[in-house]
Amino acid sequence: MTATIEFQGVDFAYQPETPVLQQVSFQIPAGQTVALVGANGSGKSTIAKLMTGLLTADQGHIFLDQEEVTATTSSKLRQRIGLVFQNPDDQIVGATVAENTAFGLENRNVPRSVMQQRVRTALDQVGMWEYRDREPGLLSGGQKQRVALASALAVTPEVLILDEATSMLDPQAKSELNQIVKRLQQQTGLTIVLITHDLEMLGIAEQVVALDNHQVAFTGTPAVLFQQDQLLTQLQLELPFSLQVQRDFAAAGVPVPDHDLNEKELIQWLTKLL
Ligand SMILES: Nc1ncnc2c1ncn2[C@@H]1O[C@H](COP(=O)(O)OP(=O)(O)O)[C@@H](O)[C@H]1O
Ligand SMILES: [Mg+2]
Repeated sequence: MTATIEFQGVDFAYQPETPVLQQVSFQIPAGQTVALVGANGSGKSTIAKLMTGLLTADQGHIFLDQEEVTATTSSKLRQRIGLVFQNPDDQIVGATVAENTAFGLENRNVPRSVMQQRVRTALDQVGMWEYRDREPGLLSGGQKQRVALASALAVTPEVLILDEATSMLDPQAKSELNQIVKRLQQQTGLTIVLITHDLEMLGIAEQVVALDNHQVAFTGTPAVLFQQDQLLTQLQLELPFSLQVQRDFAAAGVPVPDHDLNEKELIQWLTKLL
């Protein structure tokens, strides 16, 4: 199962005099992976909360498939969305990893056997089944985030939102979580919203929606975004390392390939060049 998300002309402000979102419109097709980027404070987490009905738009409409997210529909629609937040420690409940993962299922009249199966599947998906009897508070940050992801997956959502889920992790843990998300993308057909500054994660996205100055400043592929230097600066994003090196060579007059190189391709090209 998977779902389309649509924002139509959404305005939102916490205080009337300081608008956060103005006329924000975008569409995320079912099954697509979209990165939502923008400087700190640009309204990305606000969008995640609007999608899940934790906040209500001042103007405009938000749809999950054909159903509008409103005060009356939000609690039902929220069950179709899995959320993972930034801070690993904010998402710990329960005495064991398995209990933590089952938490979202407890109030849903899911039969015990189904619940156990879902917990098993979800923990397998993030490589944490072996840790099922461990105390979540004692895990590493990366492991906690994998358990948070398992807890989101256990309720079998149609949409998965990761809100800066890798930003507090070390490079190794970041990379592992990225690999897991990549696998989910290939194996599940979930609609995935990646709120991120992490370029490796951005690279997984099929489309990017960029927020700037309360509005959508860009929609398109990561490759097209990487060509817009000024916008990248405004969004507090850097070019991927391999692309930066490629540009520096070009600027120095070295003939470079005409497509963007990833790190592996860059190494191959440099090896040949030398
Ligand atoms: N609960 C709140 N009350 C008042 N202002 C808020 C609240 N949450 C966020 N803001 C403000 O709204 C703006 C957007 O915040 P947020 O959506 O968290 O941005 P992002 O996730 O892109 O960093 C920021 O200026 C932030 O300070
Ligand atoms: Mg945020």
